[in-house]
This record gives sequence, structure tokens and C-alpha cells, in this order.
Amino acid sequence: MEENIFIFDTTLRDGEQSPGATMNLREKIRLARQLEQLGVDTIEAGFPAASPGDFESVRAIANELRECQVAGLCRAIKSDIDRAWEAIKDAADPRIHTFIATSDIHMRYKLRKDKEQVLEMAREAVTHAASLTSNVEFSAEDASRSDPEFLARIVELAISCGARVINIPDTVGYAQPDEFGDLIAYLLQQVPNSDQAVFSVHCHNDLGLAVANTVAAIKAGARQAEVTLCGIGERAGNAALEELVMALDVRSDVYKLTNHIRKEQLYPSCRLLSMIIGQPIPPNKSIIGDNAFAHESGIHQDGVLKNRQTYEIMAPEHVGRTTTDMVLGKHSGRHALKERLEGLGYRLSEEHVDIVFGAFKKLADRKKEVFIEDIEAVVLEEIFRLPD
Ligand code: KIV
Ligand code: ZN
Repeated sequence: MEENIFIFDTTLRDGEQSPGATMNLREKIRLARQLEQLGVDTIEAGFPAASPGDFESVRAIANELRECQVAGLCRAIKSDIDRAWEAIKDAADPRIHTFIATSDIHMRYKLRKDKEQVLEMAREAVTHAASLTSNVEFSAEDASRSDPEFLARIVELAISCGARVINIPDTVGYAQPDEFGDLIAYLLQQVPNSDQAVFSVHCHNDLGLAVANTVAAIKAGARQAEVTLCGIGERAGNAALEELVMALDVRSDVYKLTNHIRKEQLYPSCRLLSMIIGQPIPPNKSIIGDNAFAHESGIHQDGVLKNRQTYEIMAPEHVGRTTTDMVLGKHSGRHALKERLEGLGYRLSEEHVDIVFGAFKKLADRKKEVFIEDIEAVVLEEIFRLPD
């Protein structure tokens, strides 16, 4: 029987920690709705104790979404946990995600605590969180650089105190796929109560290995993957949701795993994020870049014309990309514009389509050809900036 991989999206939390990716409340809600539409299991909406703004956006998202879990991140500190709970408690399925660092370097220099003190903090934090909800996730920050025996001890303790998801982060993107897979296998085997929790991984991309490490961990038995759209996140980012989902999908013969992602929403979701944070998608980006399905060499073009599968391992339509090359210009009608908007993932009301169409016509008078980026800029300007 196929097993499920739970997709935990942290675009709104770790993703927002990416330089220049700050989002306002309205933008976060818009993106959260799209993530729900995409089918992620859990949205990590933010870090409520970090700032009043973060608290408000986590609360707004928790109150609005009904189809997925909403997680709030918090340190292993009672006041942080209470603040996170306050923000998420009205969610359909709220999750407290508490973390503490477990590597020697973090415990010594950042926390200034020894192993026993860190164990005690984890015990108190998870016990307190579990008194508020049964949906508690515990993360051992910098797990991949931690002493594996100590890691096994703290994981066992967290599960015995009520954590139902155990997250093993490669916080600094240091792990290599084989050894990271081995670490997950070791924990699943060594921790006596490991069958009472879902094991999760959270990989950073400092060496460009975040998706490879996530896949290796899944092969070893991890069943939740923490990811972000377009792989945005601290420094070089996190494992990219769209890459992980398609790696599992294209090689489903090997992995035999399912998930709840609606793959045709992948491209629209990434484009929406790119528009909101104002950062273009690099052309060579896997799955979503402009060149991801473009064929330049004569041999490749000839092969694709004969049979697309000669050089394409997935169909663009499968990930929500339209193959239309209809040009939009001043002679284009409302219908063509509406179709293009829908192809980009925007489900606008008729009234909003009218507004965008009016602005589009003015723009088309000045420009010969209107590009996707122009249309998105019009949506951003005319719809997202409308007063509430
Ligand atoms: O990278 C990391 O370790 C994190 C944790 C807080 C989960 O983001
Ligand atoms: Zn992280």
C-alpha cells in the first residue's frame, strides 16, 4: 500500500526570513489561501512571539483557513509557546511547533546551556505545549551537526512528553544525502517510542542539497517534509516544495508514496509568491523557470516534435503551466485576458477582472506586447493594493 508524505509548508515563516521576502498581512493571507488551494497539509504561518505583526498575521491565517493545519513556531520557552497558542488556537487544526538547538556548538555558544539543561527545557516545553493541544511538533535545531546519541535521547523524551511530530532539521545545509538518510534510519531504529511520532525533515540549501537530503530522509522513513515555494528561506533557502513533489511524482515507481498536493497548482503558486515578494523566478529554475520546458538545440527540438518524452520527463500542463503562446496586446479582449489570468492561477471576481482589464488596455496602448510580468504587476497594483 502507498504511504503518504505530509507536506509542511514554511514559506510564510522560514521563507519570509529570506532577505527581501517580507510580506504584509494582506499578501500573507493571499498566499496562505493559495497554499491551501495547492493542498499542503500544514502551513507554518509565522513565529508569533517574534513581533506583533507576526502574531497578527498568524492569527488571521489561523482564523481563515479551514482545510489545512496551521502551525505557529515558538522557542522552547513557556511565554513563546503561550503566544503561539494564542495566535493559532482558533485554527481548524492548530499545531504548536516548538524547537531547541541540540548541537554542541549551538548549546555552548548560543544557548549557553549544557545537555542536561537542554533536555529539561525540551521536557518542560513539550509538556506545556501538549497540555494545550495534542498536535505538537518538536524540532531539534541543528540536528545534523548534533551528537546522534544525544539527539536520540531528546527525541525519545519529546515523544514521551507528547510530541507527535519530530522534526530533524539540517539547519545550516551541512548534511550529505547518504549520511542524512542514515541519521533518520538510526533515529527510527534507536528511539524506542519512534513509532508514536511522524518523523519530519527540514533541509536548508547551503550546498544545493536540500531536496536531495529530503528525498534521502524520505527513503529512510521520514514521512513529513518541510519545504517552501521556490525554495526561498534563510541564506540559500530551503528545500523547494515544487522540486520535491515532482521528484517524488516523476519517480513514483521508485518511491511509491502519495501526497495531497494538486500539482496543477504548483506553477500558479510559485508565480504568486514571486509576484508578492517582487523577486523574479530564475529562468533555469527547475519546474517553474521560463527555460524549464524550453528546447534550444536542433536535436532536442526535433526529438520533442516527434515525441515530447524524448527530452521532457514531465508535462508542463501537469504542473500548471499553460503552453499557450497567444500574444496579449491592445487588440486582445477581456476573455483572452481572463484566461491568461486563470492560467497564472488568479481566480478574480468579474468586478476585479474588469478593473484589471481597464488597466491592461491603458498599458497595451503604450506597449506593443504585454508580458506575464506586466499582467502580474497590474494585478498587484489594481487588486492587492485596493483599500479593504
Ligand atoms: O532551520 C531550522 O532549524 C529551523 C527550525 C526552527 C525548524 O528553521
Ligand atoms: Zn529553517
